[in-house]
Amino acid sequence: MFYTYQGDILFWNGDNTSLLCDKIEKDLRLQYSYSGPYFLYNENILKARLQMFVDNFPGSQLYYSVKSLSNIHILKLIEGYKSFGLDVVSGGEIQRGLASGFKGSRMVYAGVGKTEEEIKLGLRENLKSFHVESVSEIRQIERIAKREGLRAPITLRLNPDIPVDTHKYIKTGVEGAKFGLNAGELVESVSIIKESENISLVGLQVHLGSQLLDKEVYFKGLDFLTNVAHNLESSLSTKIEYLSLGGGFGIDYNSTFTGDINVEFPLSDFAAGLAGKKNQRWRIDFEPGRFISAHSGLLVAHVLYIKPRNDFTIAITDAGMSELIRPALYGATHKILSIVKSSDEMVDYDVVGPICESGDFFARKMNLNKLREGDKIAIAHAGAYGSVMSSNYNSRPYVPEFLVTGESIRLIRRPQMPENIYSLELLA
Ligand code: LLP
Repeated sequence: MFYTYQGDILFWNGDNTSLLCDKIEKDLRLQYSYSGPYFLYNENILKARLQMFVDNFPGSQLYYSVKSLSNIHILKLIEGYKSFGLDVVSGGEIQRGLASGFKGSRMVYAGVGKTEEEIKLGLRENLKSFHVESVSEIRQIERIAKREGLRAPITLRLNPDIPVDTHKYIKTGVEGAKFGLNAGELVESVSIIKESENISLVGLQVHLGSQLLDKEVYFKGLDFLTNVAHNLESSLSTKIEYLSLGGGFGIDYNSTFTGDINVEFPLSDFAAGLAGKKNQRWRIDFEPGRFISAHSGLLVAHVLYIKPRNDFTIAITDAGMSELIRPALYGATHKILSIVKSSDEMVDYDVVGPICESGDFFARKMNLNKLREGDKIAIAHAGAYGSVMSSNYNSRPYVPEFLVTGESIRLIRRPQMPENIYSLELLA
């Protein structure tokens, strides 16, 4: 329960958001003449969520999924947790990890489309492992490693065809998905590994999908990996170091004031079930993203205009799908909370952004405390896949980000200046 009201004021993990926002907005106006939306991240929530993984999986190596929230100051904070490395998916994320103080040896590198340059960078930086997704990719890594006189550690990302209950865009371990190796490709991969002196197998991985709430699918994934691991160790006469179950642990996007968070992934039950499994021969690793970052962030926006309609009201805000695309892309629901409630009257709102698309909305017919022009609103659970999926669409700038810890407020990303949106074009 991270959100509560004291009187009319929204408190977030114990912090008075009205005071926070007033301080932040004063500084933004003075320093940058900026008065638009911004992201707030809460250090204490972030730390508590990281600790949940450390406590629940003491024997595991954990890789924070950079794609969910990648600000360098957030990564620096995670760097202090020795059980955590990074799950990266591009050369850009490798560079970001390095800039945050992570050594390559603490990164695993996933993704279906690694380029030659990215593979070279990964080899140069001595990554823990390349999580490979196709036979062609294995051949490409082997070719490059041979040329450079290196041995590349690889992990086979398998597609176990395990159905999961989540949005179709974020199901990844089912037949037909672009991710992972199927049974036929696994056989071919093994014969390449057998013959090559430039690649070595260190692990097996599955990532079934994202925003999953059912622990049973993870047990199915583990059974699948365990079977394959037994077979491979005997046929390759090699020792597999780890089995990774990927990320995907879902959170409760509806949690606000209702007490305990009750419909999120049951992490401790799952961990207890895992610990109870006998004869577990391999280390089991994870790559959590959303479970750590989602609760840790919110997007603050301002109501610009109110437009009454017959049986509902449209509230137009200064943030839009350029800052948080999840409602537009997945029909995702994010709670919307007034920073200061103006009245107890409840009204049905379409909360929309300023972008020229009908899909640019945060909520449809959501029953909210009455809003007035100029009100500040918090869009909750925006830490994961919020800022990282931002765009400059409609030539809108990337918005500032702040890390808050009790009294301290740190600007961790400046607002992008309008001229910086097109500056690369001037030099082209
Ligand atoms: N490992 C792999 C290989 C992944 O592909 C992903 C996420 C993760 C770990 C972390 O998953 P998480 O624990 O965060 O669920 N933009 C979407 C989510 C895309 C997830 C992509 N892969 C959303 O906003 O829901």
